[in-house]
Amino acid sequence: MTDLFDKHRHTAERHERMLSLGANAVGLTNDRILSPTRAIIDGRETVLAGTNNYMGITFEADCIAAGQEALALYGTGTTGSRIANGSYAMHRELERELAGFLNRRHCIMFTTGYQANLGMLAGLAGPKDTIYLDADSHSSIYDGCTLSGAKLVRFRHNDASDLDKRLTRSEDEGGGRLVVVEGIYSMLGDRAPLADFVAVKKKHGFQLLVDEAHSFGVLGKNGRGLADEAGLEDDVDFVVGTFSKSIGAIGGFGAGNHPLFNMLRYASRPYMFTASPSPATVATSLAAVRKLKAEPERREKLAVNSARLFNGFKALGLALGCDAVSPIVAVNCPDEVSTIAMWNALLKAGVYVNIALPPGTPGKQCLLRCSVSAAHSFEDIDRIITLFGEVVAQGHYKKAG
Ligand SMILES: Cc1ncc(COP(=O)(O)O)c(C=O)c1O
Repeated sequence: MTDLFDKHRHTAERHERMLSLGANAVGLTNDRILSPTRAIIDGRETVLAGTNNYMGITFEADCIAAGQEALALYGTGTTGSRIANGSYAMHRELERELAGFLNRRHCIMFTTGYQANLGMLAGLAGPKDTIYLDADSHSSIYDGCTLSGAKLVRFRHNDASDLDKRLTRSEDEGGGRLVVVEGIYSMLGDRAPLADFVAVKKKHGFQLLVDEAHSFGVLGKNGRGLADEAGLEDDVDFVVGTFSKSIGAIGGFGAGNHPLFNMLRYASRPYMFTASPSPATVATSLAAVRKLKAEPERREKLAVNSARLFNGFKALGLALGCDAVSPIVAVNCPDEVSTIAMWNALLKAGVYVNIALPPGTPGKQCLLRCSVSAAHSFEDIDRIITLFGEVVAQGHYKKAG
């Protein structure tokens, strides 16, 4: 008999190796969360620089109060999908609020951001269609393609001319064509060159979806994401986003203007066959969306903080994941062992960052990924830079070649 766990033995060995180097970098426990930027980890107060809590909104009194009130009024859970159990009025209210924020006619909420990609991609594309996706796409996008049954064509990361070539090659295949890019890429923090993709769209004609998971709330005059920043919202057919980052909750959404958009509710298995978001989550998210609209200064503070960390790391001579400033600042390390060693040294020094290792990284890079929050003070940012500097001075950092 083949033990089904045989295929996981390699992972187990790798995991053991990681533990032998220190703390569990991929399974850390926060003993207590003190604020959007502080936690007690292993008995120590630690600066959090790997939370995706871009707006620093997780402890806002009005968001918490809205969640508590919903919990008291509507209970702990919805106990079913919206198709089976019906919607709560607040599900619809949040969708209306988001559609207004995004300036789109329609918006559908999903239970997580991951499911938003699954639901949108598998709802939009079927076996007769083709999805063209950036090679560095998030796993939820890849999984959405698989679920859709559509033909999958990958183009080189951020390379519109490669997409152009691949579209030309498959011109006569028939079926719908959906191109998927991300606003800010989650690992390296680089943006899609949206204007280049829109030029290819004008040449070939396809429908374009932008996953703004890391750019919603962050980029653009209105905080709607990369398309807002680039002034190209009319050229983007569908937007996907998540509540787990700028909104500080959990859930996701898809939005668009197509007159049949709402039919996705009846075509999207990740919408139909899972329980709808809980009342507390919806109420918290609704309060947070309103806060994003009312407090653009959070976005401005985030941009200033991001530039401060980026420039501080540059001054330390660290190899960074990309040349543009964004709230994701990734430090490129040469190999797995030195990345884990440096991550442990940072944690001991009092700063938490994400470790990102192959195969989940672009180009199999080993990364120490920081994410900046509007809630970081300048002192926090300077402390993160200082602690990185100390760890580099201790000889833990080797520049990736
Ligand atoms: C680009 C992208 N899309 C979708 C998701 C999924 O979002 P969630 O974690 O809220 O399910 C993520 C999560 O990190 C992401 O980076």
